[in-house]
Amino acid sequence: MAEELRVVEGSKEEKYKALLPQLEAFMKYESDPVALMANISAAIRETFGFLWVGFYQTDGDRLVLGPFQGPIACTRIAYGKGVCGSAWKESRTLVVPDVDSFPGHIACSSSSRSEIVVPFYKNGVVAGVLDIDSESTGTFDAVDAAWLEKVMAIFGDRISRDFQDDVKNGVVVYCSSSSDVPEKYLEAAKEMGTLIAEAGFTLVTGGGYRGLMASSIDGALAAGGKVTGVLPHFMIERGWAHEGLTNRLDTPSMHVRKQTMADMSVAAVALPGGIGTLDELCEIMAWKQLGLFSGKVVLVNTDGFFEPLIAMFSAMCEEGFMRGGELPVQLVATPQEALEYLVTTCPPRRGERICRIRV
Ligand code: SME
Repeated sequence: MAEELRVVEGSKEEKYKALLPQLEAFMKYESDPVALMANISAAIRETFGFLWVGFYQTDGDRLVLGPFQGPIACTRIAYGKGVCGSAWKESRTLVVPDVDSFPGHIACSSSSRSEIVVPFYKNGVVAGVLDIDSESTGTFDAVDAAWLEKVMAIFGDRISRDFQDDVKNGVVVYCSSSSDVPEKYLEAAKEMGTLIAEAGFTLVTGGGYRGLMASSIDGALAAGGKVTGVLPHFMIERGWAHEGLTNRLDTPSMHVRKQTMADMSVAAVALPGGIGTLDELCEIMAWKQLGLFSGKVVLVNTDGFFEPLIAMFSAMCEEGFMRGGELPVQLVATPQEALEYLVTTCPPRRGERICRIRV
C-alpha cells in the first residue's frame, strides 16, 4: 500500500481478501500508530464506501477520537457507553445491525443505521477500538467481524512491539495491599522494591496505594526506578491506584491484569500477602509448570511467613502431586537473596534494546 490501494470488485470476502495483504504490507514498514490508524481508516473506506471509518483510543476511563474518514464525530466516549465504550468494556467485537435497537447508542451522525466496533490490544490490554458506520441497516455480520479482527490483530501486534521491548525488563511483585500488618513485612517489601530498581529492572505491580504494594512502589521510586502499575478498571475508578506510578495500565479484568503483568516480566516474586497474593503465586507457578511463563518464580519467605504453604508444597511433592517432583518456584529467605538469584539467572537489560523494530 505504499502508493495506491488496489480495490477489487466482488463480494465482501473478496474485497477483504484483497485488502488484508495490502494493509499487512503497509504495517510491516510503518510503526507510527497514528499513521497506521489513518491509512487503515482510509483504505477500508475506499474499499467499501462506508459512511464513517475511524479509531478511538483509550485515555483513562474514556475513549478519545483518533484518525478517521467521514463526517465529524464525537470526541470522547465514556467506558461502557455507546457501542464503542461497550466493546471496550466487554473486550469483544460488537456488530449492531440496527443502531436504533442498541440501548445507549451514541449517534454522531443521524445518517448512521448500522455499526461494527472491533477492539484492538496493546500488550494484551484494550488500547482502543476501530469503529465503522454504515448508512444502511444490516451491513455488518460475522464475515466483517472475522476480517476486521484479523486487521486489528496485526495492528495490535505492530503497535505492541516497541512497548513490549521497552518493558520486558520487569520483575512483577505479588504482595498484600493491606497496611494492617506488622511493620517487618512492609519494610521487606520496600527493600524488595528498592533492590529491583537499583538493579535496573522495572518494578511491575498491581499498582495499589496501600500495604506492601505501596511500600515496594515507594522503595523503587525512591531509588529512581520505573514502576508499572497494572490495575483493573474498577480499581482505578475506586481510586486505589498509587499516585507515583511512572506507567499506569488499565485492564478490563483481573484476568487481563495478571496476564499483562506476566507478559511484561522476566521474573515473578511473591512477598507475604493474603488470598490475592496466593492466587497470583499459584497461577504463575501453574503457568511455569505448563510452559506458559518462561521467567523465574521466587517466593520470599520473610520471617518464616510462608512455612505452612511450603509444608503444603512439600506434601504435594512427597505424595507425587508435583510433576517431576519439583516445585516451579525458588524459595529464598530475604529480598537480598531474591535479588541475588534474579541478577544471576535473568540479568536486567541495562539500557539495552533488543529487536526494537522487527520488520
Ligand atoms: N456510534 C458510536 C459513537 C461513535 S460514532 O459512530 C463515530 C457509539 O455508539 O459508540
